[in-house]
Amino acid sequence: MPSFDDLVAEASAVAVEGWDFSWLDGRASEERPPWAYARTVARRLEGATASLDLQTGGGEVLAEAGTYPPLAVATEGWLPNLAVAADRLRPRGVTVLGHDGATPLPFVDGVFDLVTSRHPVSTDWPEIARVLAPGGTYLSQQVGPASMVELSEAFLGPLPDAHRWRRPEDARAAAERCGLEVVDLRSVRLRAEFADVGAIVYVLRTCVWWVPDFSVERYRPTLRRLHDRMVSDGPFVAHSSRFLVEARRPDRQP
Ligand SMILES: C[S@@+](CC[C@H](N)C(=O)[O-])C[C@H]1O[C@@H](n2cnc3c(N)ncnc32)[C@H](O)[C@@H]1O
Repeated sequence: MPSFDDLVAEASAVAVEGWDFSWLDGRASEERPPWAYARTVARRLEGATASLDLQTGGGEVLAEAGTYPPLAVATEGWLPNLAVAADRLRPRGVTVLGHDGATPLPFVDGVFDLVTSRHPVSTDWPEIARVLAPGGTYLSQQVGPASMVELSEAFLGPLPDAHRWRRPEDARAAAERCGLEVVDLRSVRLRAEFADVGAIVYVLRTCVWWVPDFSVERYRPTLRRLHDRMVSDGPFVAHSSRFLVEARRPDRQP
């Protein structure tokens, strides 16, 4: 294995815009949820007339679809990713808009029959319900409770409340409060392995929520300890948590 200093220096220098994680190939792995989110979204897009992907990141998931409805929109709030998403999606006929995820959506009521979002940082259920057409669907793969908590705890110490964050049952309650009908809700816990400390530096620079004050300088002793442990014991193992939620806006009452 390369030295600690080389691994950390390499992972600190690499660009982290976009959301494709291919830099981690061969040095980190994560099991995939069984419901094949990107393929499911692609299938739903084929039957949609107006679609909206919220917090699209670099547009990687949406770009996997081959067919888009006549009105296809994606929003992204983090400026470096907005540029990546625009470059990737506009040639495919998808309109890409900057939106911070916190303010009202810049769309009239009831315009989209499909709204999607993978791993949104937050979910504005009232706004989603408002822009969905009657009979329209919100389909989202979300980060669930205590996701990657082993990794966060290696840096931050015990996080006893982590299992109460991002619970699927809270998503169901929030959807129902907005008049949506939850037609599918499934959860899974997935094994992830990090083979070297560079992979850990990379994910903590990318997934900035896991260790919010992360910097290599601040956590160099922790990184060194993890490196020594990986050299002697093998990969660092953590578990991500995902849920799929599908919510439908009821058809108009006769
Ligand atoms: C977790 S990303 C998921 C992106 C995409 N839907 C996907 O699954 O590939 C969700 C949102 O996090 C925000 N985000 C990503 N990286 C960020 C960063 N370094 N700082 C602040 N926000 C970030 C962006 O607004 C992005 O839309």
